[in-house]
Amino acid sequence: MNSVEYRRLGNSGLTISAVGLGCNNLGRAGTATETQEGADAVIHASLESGITFFDVADVYGREPGLSEIMLGKALGSRRDEVVIGTKFGMDMVGANGNDFDARGSRGYIIRAVEASLRRLGTDYIDLYQFHTPDQRTPIAETLAALDDLVQAGKVRYIGHSNRSGWQIADAEFTARMQGGERFISSQNHYNLLDRRAELEVCPAAEAYGLGLLPYFPLANGLLTGKYSDGVAPEGSRLTHARTHLMHQVDYGQLREFSEFAVARDLTELQVAFSWLAAQPSVSSVIAGATRPEQVRENAQAIAWKPSVEELSELDVIFPKTPKVALF
Ligand SMILES: NC(=O)c1ccc[n+]([C@@H]2O[C@H](COP(=O)([O-])OP(=O)(O)OC[C@H]3O[C@@H](n4cnc5c(N)ncnc54)[C@H](OP(=O)(O)O)[C@@H]3O)[C@@H](O)[C@H]2O)c1
Repeated sequence: MNSVEYRRLGNSGLTISAVGLGCNNLGRAGTATETQEGADAVIHASLESGITFFDVADVYGREPGLSEIMLGKALGSRRDEVVIGTKFGMDMVGANGNDFDARGSRGYIIRAVEASLRRLGTDYIDLYQFHTPDQRTPIAETLAALDDLVQAGKVRYIGHSNRSGWQIADAEFTARMQGGERFISSQNHYNLLDRRAELEVCPAAEAYGLGLLPYFPLANGLLTGKYSDGVAPEGSRLTHARTHLMHQVDYGQLREFSEFAVARDLTELQVAFSWLAAQPSVSSVIAGATRPEQVRENAQAIAWKPSVEELSELDVIFPKTPKVALF
């Protein structure tokens, strides 16, 4: 039996699990989810745990498109039970044809959506997210093309990612002026170790009723406690990717975090997830996972509701202006 919480994505009518699965590990070299068998185990454990939201992108996988293919296969006949959020707009290194660095343009979007639908093995995308701002194409053109996709039934809702506060406001007011579909979600880097989103992005998301989908919720696993003694466990992400983070992170800070969690009989992971889930604009915490047991643990990790005093204590351990910038 699962006890996952479900929330609306922003002010929209779309309901998703408040813990989702980030799918950038599917087909990632050096992980247990590099194979279809490993990916199936994680996706099936997610479904059994009550997770309904799967966040992927066309660019994910050891070659572009692979994560979408693996997600589509793993879901199989259960596709209609879930919400798939995929993305376009990062460099597909030619897989979607020549893009002239204008991946928010009408022609590119039409090619990109057809390719994602084919790879996912579906005839609709629940949430189609503009992965990163395109400096060349006016947002009005991107919005008009996305509106057409919604009218055609290929896409149900649209979201964006990696936009700054002013870019979020610009997109919102352009959509209002055009009268077409507006973005319902914003996906941005946000976790206890990196709270820059609180400066502009969180207030903008709240003001415009966007559901915030924080990415890197576990800071690549640093907030799970498994790296806190300065050693990366065998097979873990920081042994084969982003290894520099092991040298950048402040272990004293991670120790204070562990003590905070232990004092409440919680795991670090439960604190990291619950803290994000308690932020007013957050709709779903989308951690990636490489093993079914991680997913089962994550699905149950937002039950703790921090008090005002506990939030203040966390502010001291993790200041809004980070002690160390982790990139
Ligand atoms: N929009 C964007 O630009 C953007 C950018 C990045 C990510 N994203 C999205 O956000 C999602 C989340 O980001 P992420 O997966 O890169 O980073 P993350 O959630 O901060 O870290 C995920 C890693 O944490 C570890 N982990 C997860 N659950 C665990 C558990 N219960 N116990 C121990 N370790 C656990 C796993 O590491 P091991 O590999 O060590 O097992 C997993 O690979 C992505 O999957 C993707 O969908 C979006």
